Order: sequence, then structure tokens, then C-alpha cells
Amino acid sequence: MSTFQALAGFRDFYPDDCAFKNFVFERFRQSATTFGFEEYDAPILEPMELFTAKSGEEIVSQLFNFEDKGGRSVAMRPEMTPSLARMVGARASALRRPIKWFSISEMFRYERPQKGRLRSFYQFNADIFGNELSYADAEIILLGIHMLKSFGLTAEDFHVRLSDRQLWTLFIRYHNIGEDDVPEVLGIIDKIEREEPSKTIENLDKICRGDGRKIFDDILEIRTIHSVDGIRKFFKKFENDACAKRIDELAQLLARMKMFGVSDFVTIDFNIVRGLAYYTGFVFEIFERSGQSRALAGGGRYDNLIKRLGYADLPAVGFAIGDVTLRNLLKEKNIVPKLSKNTHCFVVYSTQTEMLALQQATMLREQRINTDYCLDPATFSKQLKMAAQADAKYAIIFGEEEAKTGHAKIKDMSSANEIVVEIDRLVEVISR
Ligand code: HAM
Repeated sequence: MSTFQALAGFRDFYPDDCAFKNFVFERFRQSATTFGFEEYDAPILEPMELFTAKSGEEIVSQLFNFEDKGGRSVAMRPEMTPSLARMVGARASALRRPIKWFSISEMFRYERPQKGRLRSFYQFNADIFGNELSYADAEIILLGIHMLKSFGLTAEDFHVRLSDRQLWTLFIRYHNIGEDDVPEVLGIIDKIEREEPSKTIENLDKICRGDGRKIFDDILEIRTIHSVDGIRKFFKKFENDACAKRIDELAQLLARMKMFGVSDFVTIDFNIVRGLAYYTGFVFEIFERSGQSRALAGGGRYDNLIKRLGYADLPAVGFAIGDVTLRNLLKEKNIVPKLSKNTHCFVVYSTQTEMLALQQATMLREQRINTDYCLDPATFSKQLKMAAQADAKYAIIFGEEEAKTGHAKIKDMSSANEIVVEIDRLVEVISR
């Protein structure tokens, strides 16, 4: 008989993996609350149109979708942003602004499983609504940097590649490409690294009537620029006030990052366009410095999404970081702390003291002190071995002699020191 395996691209989380996952999520949660974000959650299953209408082609081609028993077209969420926009939109007038929310949740994309890409993965999302200035963009990028730093990663390990969809859009318009074709050209630029140059030029040619080669060369040039001055120089030829104004906003965002002392982490990089259709302003992705791996995180400003879902006009900016590439990076850098089982006490007893010991174990658990014991009768030495395997901080030994006088022995498992204490004082001593 054949045995069962998890589906390709899905993961089993054995206790060690789960401990690691919880450790990562705790760090995420800690960083977000430190920055004043509140946690929310949303359904895993959504009406399919929520994604087909708003996320863009690439994600739609990766949907896990089906018809439910009531004949509705539904999809497992591939990302959080559309659900979040719906939730915020529905209560927009009642929510105090700026709205700063975060979530940690599982996503599903029917991608080809490969290093850093699975079909089920977790994302931490953080978004700010109700602030249209680049200060909110700066806060989101800062949170991403803070979060990765909290794992011990430095500016040598990762960087934020910052780009701007508005400048890209102005660039496209300058080349006499109609408004309706802008999303398609952005899509072509997004795929440029993965496509043969001749194919890209051919695709551009179709849209701009034979100017494909010229636009392609311009795109290649802008993609090599990594400074505000360079960007200013490049856009000068357009003699366009909107470009100059936008470059000032980019400079302002970078000045803000400098103020926070994180300039070393940020690189201007117009290779970043982002595959999702709803972005309207600054966009960024966070990568390992070597550039070998897939993105650790991605995000940007999406000021029209809530309105396009039929709600109020509410500016928004946010990002998501995935657990798969982050896990790979932390393991590669070997900066994962030892994750213990979190057992605080291990109760050790004999047949004669079993009743007393188990009553005390119950008392400790009721005090929310993590307490374990050996389920089967076993020798003291075997029980102490189990205490060590459980990573217990203390073994509480209920020996017959001590028990007679209402005492127990507390053994500190790291120093092996032992003290005898009155049973009434157990909680006090082990909580010190
Ligand atoms: P995204 O770039 O599609 O953005 O995903 C963000 C991160 O999720 C990626 O950088 C990656 O770490 C992780 N990720 C995406 N797909 C996979 C996959 N198949 N396997 C493993 N990890 C993956 C968004 O999802 C936007 N909704 C982010 C956002 C929030 N924008 C504004 N607010």
C-alpha cells in the first residue's frame, strides 16, 4: 500500500519547524507592535473576483480556485492586500487614522515549487491607511528593515531596492504611449530580466509602433542608475515639471531614511516595478545582498485600490515579508538561536510520592508554569534524563524522605545545584 505525502509545495511542520516558525512570528509581532501596528485577520477563502479584478494577471494565473457547493467561484487567498482593503474600506469612516494594521497569515499560490517559492507560505503584512505623504512609505520601509535587523541581519546581508511607479509611468507617457497601455508596459519592464531582449523589443514595438528599440535602450539606462542625482540627470531631457516634482519626493523619502539612520540599507533601483497591478507610487523589494535568492519582501503604495473596490478614497501603503526566503537566509547565515521546548519544570517522583508530585504539577500548571513529568513509572535517573531532554530549567524532585516533612528538592538543570525547599514555597523559588 502506498503512503501519503504532503502535496508538492506544501509543508509539514514537525515540532522543530513549528518552534522555528513561532520564533519568527514572535519577532514579526514584536516589531509590529513596537511600531504601533494593531493585528487583524481575514478569511482564507474569498470570492474569486476579489483577486481577479485587482491583483493583476500574474497572481490570477497562480490562484488556487474552485467552485463551492453553492456554485460560487472562490479562491484561497494568494495575498492579503485585497481582503485588507475590503475590511478597511467597509469601516473607513469609523476607523481612527492613520490606520496601522498587521497580520501573519498563510497564503496559497499555484507556483512551480522551487527554492524560496512554495504553494503555501506565510506572510507578515503591515499597511498604513489614511496618509498620502511619503512619511508613511518611510515608516513601512523602516519597519521592514527593523524587522530583519531584529533577527541579527545587517546592511551587509540585505538591502531595500527602491523604485517608483510614478516615475516609470511618466517615462512611459513621455514615449507617447497611451494611458491604457501603461500597465502592459510596466508588465514588460517587470519581466525584462527574465525575457530575451529581442522578445522585449518585439513586445514594446507592438505597443509603440516601431519605437521599441529606443524605449528598450532608455529602460536599460534607467535601470543602471542608483542615485537621485543620476535620476535627475536622466529625466532632465523630458523637461517635465511633474518628473522634477516627483524626484523631489523621492529625495524627501531618502532624507527621511537618512534621518532614521538606515540609508545603508536602501538602494535606488528602477529594476523594481512589482508584478501586482494596484501599485501607484514608490515600490520596493527587499533582497539578500548577493542577489542570488528570490525577494525576501515586497511592497509599495496603492492609493486607488480601496476606491476601486467601491469604498472611500483612502491612500494606502504597505509591504509583506514571506517566511520561506527568510528562513533560508537565517539558516544559511546560521543566526538562529537555540529554540528550547520551553519546559520550565520537570516533576520527578517515585511510586510513593506520585500523588503528592502530580498534585503539585497540577498546581504549577494552574499557575501557568510550564510543567511536564514522565507518564510511566521510571527510575529517578531516567526521569532526570528526560528533564534534560525537555530542556527544563528545573527538576522538582519529590523524594520520599523530603516529602515526609513537606519538602521537595529543586535541581537547577544548568548548574546542577540542588536546594531543598518547603513545598509551599515551590512557586516562589522557581519564579525568581
Ligand atoms: P509579493 O511581492 O507578491 O507582495 O509577496 C511578498 C513576499 O511574499 C515575497 O517577497 C516573498 O517573500 C513572499 N512570497 C510570495 N510568493 C511566494 C511563494 N510562492 N512562496 C514563498 N514565498 C512567497 C504581496 O503579496 C503584496 N500583497 C504585499 C503588499 C502588502 N503590498 C502592500 N501591502
